[in-house]
Amino acid sequence: MGTEPEIIQQEAIAAIQSASNLQVLENIRIKYLSKNGEISALLNRIRDIPPHQRPEYGQRVNAIKNQVQVAFEQRLTELEEIAIKESLPDTTMPPRPQRPGTIHPVNATLERIVNIFRRLGFALAFGPDIETEFHNFDALNTPPEHPARDEKDTFYLDLPPHPQYGRYLLRTQTSPVQIRVLQQQSPPIRIISPGRCYRRDEIDATHLASFHQCEGLVVDSESGLPHLKGTLEFFFRELLGPETRLRFRPHYFPFTEPSYEVDLWMQTNGQQGRWLEVAGCGMVHPAVFEAVGIDPEAHTGFAFGMGIERLTMILHGLPDLRLLEQNDLRFLRQFPHYLLPQHTTAEV
Ligand code: DAH
Repeated sequence: MGTEPEIIQQEAIAAIQSASNLQVLENIRIKYLSKNGEISALLNRIRDIPPHQRPEYGQRVNAIKNQVQVAFEQRLTELEEIAIKESLPDTTMPPRPQRPGTIHPVNATLERIVNIFRRLGFALAFGPDIETEFHNFDALNTPPEHPARDEKDTFYLDLPPHPQYGRYLLRTQTSPVQIRVLQQQSPPIRIISPGRCYRRDEIDATHLASFHQCEGLVVDSESGLPHLKGTLEFFFRELLGPETRLRFRPHYFPFTEPSYEVDLWMQTNGQQGRWLEVAGCGMVHPAVFEAVGIDPEAHTGFAFGMGIERLTMILHGLPDLRLLEQNDLRFLRQFPHYLLPQHTTAEV
């Protein structure tokens, strides 16, 4: 008569429950549950059973088949979950080494600039990159026919103009922050304002369409030309070293009178020395005070503006300004020392 169905059931369930992986479980399924498996063989044996006992025998074996099937499904789910977990990465593995980022050389120069002026008691001020004609030109005593206002040189925005301040544009200089500060604060004022500027320049080794400047403004009742010169001389010697030689060359800016360009004496090994322009400056023009409703008779002040990319070039002996905009990591990773804490960004 062969093995009792219940014995086969016990064997099958025991084997299923102790199956250690999906392959073993599959072999057990074939052995018991497939068409040629042991449970089918039990059903086939029905032919050898007296007819009146067949219904009961059939039910018995079918119940056994169901129970083995249920045990199989359950173990299958368990083993599948284990297999998925094992296929996931090992989270206890040490991570791949990561290089820390570095401060961009332009930002690093800015931080140095801010730290020097902070020691002189200057506060930080910020203005928007999207400016109005009034702040960027008119209030800075720049007449409508001035070439800098031309569409060829300035990015005007395709927006309805401001009712009071005129067309919108991308600021061409940080000088409009002077106007915003003068509109909001009363003297004495002593601020610097770093930020991005935009010009429709052809891009080459010394020109970018977007660059950074740092503006400075001092307004009180007594600041004169000696204060301006003394401030900038102190600043450039702190930034570039005590031997730094400066020259104040008379120039024209609409918003200062008198105006100067500041030149730096550059002498690199063996090469012939030359003067390099690094900043513009001057005494605040009375028309600027009038544009913001400040009495020019009672106040005096000086202003200056310098290009950050240009200073970065000088600080590091860079041959081409475009290096600073291309974000090539092979270039940027050459400035890792700027991670030192003294170069952390100044909070305003
Ligand atoms: N805004 C000028 C420029 O972009 C630079 C400048 C010159 C700023 C003289 C000043 C200044 O504050 O007094 O060329």
